[in-house]
Amino acid sequence: MKDLLRTNSSLHEGIEKLLNLQSKIESDASNKYLAMASWLDRNGYANTADYLYAQSEEERMHFLKIFKYITELGGIAITPTIGEVQQEFRSLKEVFEIALQNEIAVTHAINKIVAKCRAENDYATEEFMMWYVREQREEEKNARRALELFDLIDENAPSGKFELDREIAKIGAAV
Ligand code: FEO
Repeated sequence: MKDLLRTNSSLHEGIEKLLNLQSKIESDASNKYLAMASWLDRNGYANTADYLYAQSEEERMHFLKIFKYITELGGIAITPTIGEVQQEFRSLKEVFEIALQNEIAVTHAINKIVAKCRAENDYATEEFMMWYVREQREEEKNARRALELFDLIDENAPSGKFELDREIAKIGAAV
């Protein structure tokens, strides 16, 4: 049955594999942001928590978009298993340092898919992935901006944490 279906799909197996990997990466990203939001919430950072709850939802959408694309092309979309995610953080700043590193890693993974699409002449998937290329540019920029705010606002000033919580959350609102 699987082989029969495979003959009806133009999706290259190597690309299908990378897309399934990417869907897991996006699903993990959603869970990572959820854990960050939970930590922020229980440490009094209500605004940045909301920002990352929303970010978690966005990542869930990124995951589903790829998941459905695989099926649309006749591939087999594999439901990702839920991996362990970091639940505790040392500080507000560490949350955003990790967020930026995660986003950079996602960008590299997406670039890998685009490169593979070019090698296999899969123009449909390359075009589909361009949405992710643009999205990553935005997400990296936002994560970088959050870290910049730590240079502008002294976290240890009397209301530094309060201000950072308010200003970082505005990055999401501005998008
Ligand atoms: Fe969808 Fe931010 O990776």
